[in-house]
Amino acid sequence: MPLVETVFGDPLVFERDALVLTIAEDEPRFVGSAAKADRKLNRHLSKLKEWGEFGGKLGEVTVVHSLGLIPPKRLVLVGVGRRKEIDAEKVRRAIGSAVKALNRIGCKRVIIALDTFPIDEISPENLGRVIAEGSLLASYKYRKKSGEEGTPTLEVLEVAVPNRRIATDVKKGVQLGCILATATNFARDLVNAPASEMTPIVLSEQAKAVAEKRGLKCEIYDESWIEQVGMGALRAVSLGSDQPPRFIVLRYEGKAGAPTIGLVGKGITFDSGGLCLKTPEGMLEMKGDMAGAAAVIAAMDAIAQLKPEVNVLACVPATENMPGGRAFKPGDILRTFSGKTVEIINTDAEGRLILADAIAYAKQQGASPILDAATLTGAAIIALGPFCTGAFGNDEALVREVVEAGKQAGEPIWAMPMFEDYRELIKSEVADIKNTGGRPGGAITAAWFIGEFAGDTPWVHLDIAPTFWSEKDSHYFVKGATGVMVRTFVQFVLNRSSK
Ligand code: BES
Ligand code: MN
Ligand code: ZN
Repeated sequence: MPLVETVFGDPLVFERDALVLTIAEDEPRFVGSAAKADRKLNRHLSKLKEWGEFGGKLGEVTVVHSLGLIPPKRLVLVGVGRRKEIDAEKVRRAIGSAVKALNRIGCKRVIIALDTFPIDEISPENLGRVIAEGSLLASYKYRKKSGEEGTPTLEVLEVAVPNRRIATDVKKGVQLGCILATATNFARDLVNAPASEMTPIVLSEQAKAVAEKRGLKCEIYDESWIEQVGMGALRAVSLGSDQPPRFIVLRYEGKAGAPTIGLVGKGITFDSGGLCLKTPEGMLEMKGDMAGAAAVIAAMDAIAQLKPEVNVLACVPATENMPGGRAFKPGDILRTFSGKTVEIINTDAEGRLILADAIAYAKQQGASPILDAATLTGAAIIALGPFCTGAFGNDEALVREVVEAGKQAGEPIWAMPMFEDYRELIKSEVADIKNTGGRPGGAITAAWFIGEFAGDTPWVHLDIAPTFWSEKDSHYFVKGATGVMVRTFVQFVLNRSSK
């Protein structure tokens, strides 16, 4: 991943592989460094606009060589769309597109002009943040081998700050953006790893490595502990697999006496569906069924660096869901950590089971509020499509707070209905509750199931089945894992910090 730094001064005087200039679609004339570059290049940029070769639409990129007329070897023009409509997310996307172009043509050292940003609405700090995020997220590649085609080449991206007044703010934002994007890329790595390489044990080792690096407390519990403490739901799901399960706990202690926020992530390292086996196509993305866990672990990595004045308890139930000879079965009744019993209707509705135990544990440890992220239901994908995460909860103000954190972080979240009527659908005749409520409203009944275990603790469930995976490369997304909810979790925690 490239380094992102801030420098002070005129970007046109730096000898770099490229200078990035952001251009608005409806700006009548170039501003700042773009105007200056245009003059030095004998109005070449103006001609590109006049001849309709570059319009400035969001994400549009044109590379021109500077032919020795200025020290930067190339100019990379990137469109940011209409001036009035520019917001932080559009900047993130524009920078993502520009950086992908830079990586494609093999640039190593590039500089980006801040004075061409035709915006007043975004604070200097936030601008620094989204530039750092956009460029690091767009430079991600799973398993990069240097020299291999398609490997990102960018080594250093400097943000040229035009005046000293805003330099500290931009720098602060860049540092935050770097931490957030690096953590997001770490989550992407965990999710993109094949299931046979990312077993519950390996996932727990990754969490432990984060804890050791960042000074977090870490507890990793094995199958006998899981059985002893009565996590019957996590245990049941794990039985069909030869890979032993783990229950992973990370603790960040930022301020004695401050509230403890609970973060819980679904850690199914592979979901075959269990005895209610999925189809081959249905299984293909299921190495990513621990994307919620990855988000939680990676968020802790960022939180430990940012040191907010609040406490955070992260819980990750980790197991495979396999159809082995000891697998749990439809019709089984299990006793969960909370004491509530569950009738199994479908072994493929395993995520809610392991979350039930983890949320009950977080609650017992005194966490409040509790947020969970889980690739929980295909129904959420059908309801929302691929561009937003579904939020469900038992506290409307908390749901709003999480949606807002998502907005700030650039991760769209939509609040879903939680009318009491849906709860009827998961009533069981032989246990306290059953693990599926039928296809209609499947994302909502799944949420109600988990909510049963949150009880009266304020809780929000984030169904990331729609968003954990990107089908294609676009702006700062790279085909594959998105690392979604890392940034929202961290943002939420920062917003709650008393600092
Ligand atoms: N992990 C899946 C949900 C999923 C599907 C996530 C596709 C990402 C992409 C979950 O464990 C599951 O299998 N859910 C079932 C529940 C059903 C059996 C009630 C589903 O959504 O079909
Ligand atoms: Mn499943
Ligand atoms: Zn699953």
